[in-house]
This record gives sequence, C-alpha cells and structure tokens, in this order.
Amino acid sequence: VLIQNIGRLVTMEPGHGREGALGVIADAAVLSDGETITWCGPTAELPAESRSGETTAIDAQGGVVMPGLVDCHTHLVHAGSREREFVARARGESYQAIAASGGGILSTVRATREASEDALLEGAQRRALEALRFGTTTIEIKSGYGLDWPTEQKMLRVAKQLTTQVPIRTVRTFLGAHVVPPEFSDRRGAYVEALCTEMIPAVVREALATACDIFVEEGAFSAEDARTIAAAARAQGLAMRLHVDQFHDGDGGVLAAALQAASADHLDCLSAQGVAAMAKAGVVAGLLPAASFFTRCPQRPPVEQLVAAQVPIAIATDYNPGTAPTLDLMLCGTIAITQWGLDPDLALLGMTRIAARALGCESHLGSIGPSKAADLLVLQCKDEYYPLYRFGTPHIRTVIRAGEVVFGE
Ligand code: NIG
Ligand code: FE
Repeated sequence: VLIQNIGRLVTMEPGHGREGALGVIADAAVLSDGETITWCGPTAELPAESRSGETTAIDAQGGVVMPGLVDCHTHLVHAGSREREFVARARGESYQAIAASGGGILSTVRATREASEDALLEGAQRRALEALRFGTTTIEIKSGYGLDWPTEQKMLRVAKQLTTQVPIRTVRTFLGAHVVPPEFSDRRGAYVEALCTEMIPAVVREALATACDIFVEEGAFSAEDARTIAAAARAQGLAMRLHVDQFHDGDGGVLAAALQAASADHLDCLSAQGVAAMAKAGVVAGLLPAASFFTRCPQRPPVEQLVAAQVPIAIATDYNPGTAPTLDLMLCGTIAITQWGLDPDLALLGMTRIAARALGCESHLGSIGPSKAADLLVLQCKDEYYPLYRFGTPHIRTVIRAGEVVFGE
C-alpha cells in the first residue's frame, strides 16, 4: 500500500532533520507491506520499485497523514445510559452525592449485570465503530461495571470478542476495583480478598486482560487497598494502571510511582510531590479532559508542572456513560489545550505515541516509521492542528488499520 501526495506526514518521531516536536515531513509518502510500514519519507526519495503495478495507491490529496489514534482509557463495555444524572448535576447535584445515593457507577453496574452478553457486545460494537470514525485504531477497554465475577468476566469476554467484529485493536484492563459492590458494602476487606485470590487469578488464567486498574478515591478504594490489590496483580504478571487524584488529593502520584504503574489517570488534584514521584518513576500521566469538563471539576491537573518535570502526558477520552460520554479524542485534545493550557504538540503526541507508551505498545503503535504498524489516518486538512481548532466535526477522509482501509475511501 502506497500513500502518496501527503502534504504533511506527522510521524511523531522528531529528529532526523524533520520539522518540530512531531517530526513532520512535508511532501511525503508512506509505503507498507500491508500490516507494517516499510518506508516513509519525502516523495522525492521514494524507492522506485514501490511504484510497481502490485501496489495499491491511496491519494492523500495534499492533506495530513498521522498515526491512528490510541485511546488509552475507556469504559467502552456497559449497558444503559445516565442522561438523568447529567440533568441532576446540571441542576446542582454533585457526582459524589449521586453515587452515595446508589446512582452513578452503581446504576451502570445494575444495568450491566442484567444485560445479556449479546446485548453488551452489540452496544460495544456500535461504539467501537464510532471510535474508529473518530480516528481511534487502538482502544483500551476496562471492566468494572460488574463487581462480581460473572459480570466482570462477561464484560472482558465482550471486549475480547470485539476485535473479531470491528477492525480496531484492543487492550483489556481488569477494573474489578472500581467501587465496592453493594453486597460487600460492610465487608470491603472481603471484597479486596476476593479480588486478589479469586478474580485476578481467573483474569490471568482465562487471558481476559493484560492489566489491572484501581479507582483510588473517597467512596472507592484506599491507598492501602491499592497496595494489596497491586501486589496480587503484579504477582500474576498484570501491568498496573490507576484512577487517582480525581476529586481529592490522595497522594496518587506517589502511590502510582511506588506501584510502578504504567499510567496514573485523572490527576485533577495531583500534588507537587506526586509530579516529582511520577517523573522519577516514568509513570505516564493520563489526562482525561472530557471527564473534568463534563463533571465541571473545579480543579485542574498541574499541566505546567508535569511538563516542566518531563512527565510523559497521554490524553484519553475516558469514555463512560457517567462522566465522559464521548469517543471524540480530538475534542479531548481541544479541551486540554483551551482549558488547561496544554501545548497542541503535546496534545497530539498524547493521543498517539505517549498513549501507546501507557499501553506498553509504543514499539509498534502511535508513530510512523519502518516496522511500525500501518495504522494511519488521512485527514482532509492541510495542517495537523486544524482538527483541534475546528472542533466538533470530523476531518478524517480515510482510516487505515494494519494496511487496510477500514473507514472512508
Ligand atoms: O473514569 N472515576 C471513576 N470511574 C469513571 C467513571 C465511571 C462512571 O461514572 O460510570 C471515570 O471517570
Ligand atoms: Fe475511567
């Protein structure tokens, strides 16, 4: 597959005489052998044999080509919706008050427990196709609306089956430690024990996920619980991700560093010590602008400090039916730029290369170069910043996954 007539090829690999932090090559072409990129560079240097009759050519019409987006934090599999809660919040109720009265996460838990596997798959499939149209070619998917083994297993099985139905890559994360289920409300220790001794081993035995996540927050799990659960997950070979410092400063950055988490997400209330600890340990900061925006979070992540300390920043949708009902990752970039002052280059790196790092797949996803997966977007605009600027409307002409056109022309 030859993509030619590219106005700006945004490789996400700076240096080698390329332009700027995103490693842009002007007037470029990309060649792949199907799944994998074999060559990219200026059109003038295109290897002669690539113009052979067997090559499928895609004309980028002078537009931008960039890596397929990587959404490194979603709760894609669930039943039901929560528009009533949205209205209640708009009228002054808080997310946490709604949660404390049995709404919020627990209302989605009830709906997801009741849903059949087929119904869950149908909904997840519809949303995965939507994500693909927004340019997402790799999506992380968490469980966490079951909080009992049959439902957690059902959610992860649905996420696993999804790849046979929709041409999108998935990375699955076990979030049994989302909140304490009602059956265990006065026995949280017993639930933590069940997570460690029953559910985590079953996740690994059945190859349902490669990582484990924990929501550390008042009303969810404590830092102490997180240490216990993470020890069990690590012993079983799972990578760690965390939801931390969303509504309160729970010293989440320090905790993430201590647990050697691949990423720590939310971080609206992250402390200066947290920033320093994450920098030292190389933990990726997963910022979730749609969730902060949609819940009208009064705090904001310390973006300037994260940048100054060189903490790698990923941007994700956090798609979920409560706090972030969108799969538009570019829109999340626009929010991070306008509301938090994130540099546009960092926003674009955050939804590609750094997001791939958070998922442990930076070696083949999130950037453009030889031996990288041919997951590419052809945008109908002349400049890589245009989709961030002209928000709320699609700019993607073609989505290519493993060398195949999966959306558009
Ligand atoms: O990432 N913070 C906790 N979990 C989700 C919200 C899930 C929900 O409200 O259903 C989040 O924002
Ligand atoms: Fe989340």
